[in-house]
Amino acid sequence: MNAGLFVTGTDTGVGKTLAACALVHALRAKGLRVAPMKPVAAGAGEPVGQGANADTIALAEAAGPDAPSYGEITPVLLRDPLAPHIAAAREGRAIALTPLVEAYRALDRRWDFTVVEGVGGFRVPLARDLDAADLAAALGLPVVLVVGLRLGCLNHALLTAESIARARLPLAGWIANAVDPSMAAADENVAALAERLGAPLIGRFPFVRNADPREFAARLDVSAFAKTRA
Ligand SMILES: Nc1ncnc2c1ncn2[C@@H]1O[C@H](COP(=O)(O)OP(=O)(O)OP(=O)(O)O)[C@@H](O)[C@H]1O
Ligand SMILES: [Mg+2]
Repeated sequence: MNAGLFVTGTDTGVGKTLAACALVHALRAKGLRVAPMKPVAAGAGEPVGQGANADTIALAEAAGPDAPSYGEITPVLLRDPLAPHIAAAREGRAIALTPLVEAYRALDRRWDFTVVEGVGGFRVPLARDLDAADLAAALGLPVVLVVGLRLGCLNHALLTAESIARARLPLAGWIANAVDPSMAAADENVAALAERLGAPLIGRFPFVRNADPREFAARLDVSAFAKTRA
């Protein structure tokens, strides 16, 4: 049985890492041993070849002393901060599904719960015939959608929900994240999505510069997920 979540977002930079780290903290607070995963990360940090991706580091920190290694969290680390298939091509590599699924299973065997942060948005290409939706489907995990609240997010959120349904994955919940402090009518946008997404709003994050995911964990309702392996 899979016990885990796949965290996707309406776009890149909408708060997936923040949300995934907050989910890790919230699930750990329920007594679960939680492994984070960011299967593909583009942007290796310095020094090139030895650096780790900032998301990988943040996720490892959220997991605490029991965290998997950076290499287990991120089996495919690409040097350049580009769309993954382009970054991979620049290194003469191609991203393949099987090693990513095997890396996930290795974590799933050893930890109670795995929180997988997706790459970019839900349909970002990973290779010629592979995208992030295929990865989520192969992992078979319920999806949490992080909606970056800004103009245009309704369309992005509804398109993403449609893609999640097309991948035959359950939308387990969504998080409304205030990435734009000057957004007008944020409450009305959240209400519009609550009516249309057909999944629970599991948390609402305010705009907080340098937000601490540990503090945001208290804003998440993870009771439905924490039961998974009780
Ligand atoms: N609620 C918030 N308040 C203030 N800043 C935020 C908030 N959520 C996210 N941010 C900031 O926005 C930026 C992008 O967030 P984050 O890295 O979590 O996005 P992401 O979806 O994981 O991006 P990527 O696609 O690169 O993985 C970060 O600098 C983060 O600190
Ligand atoms: Mg991220």
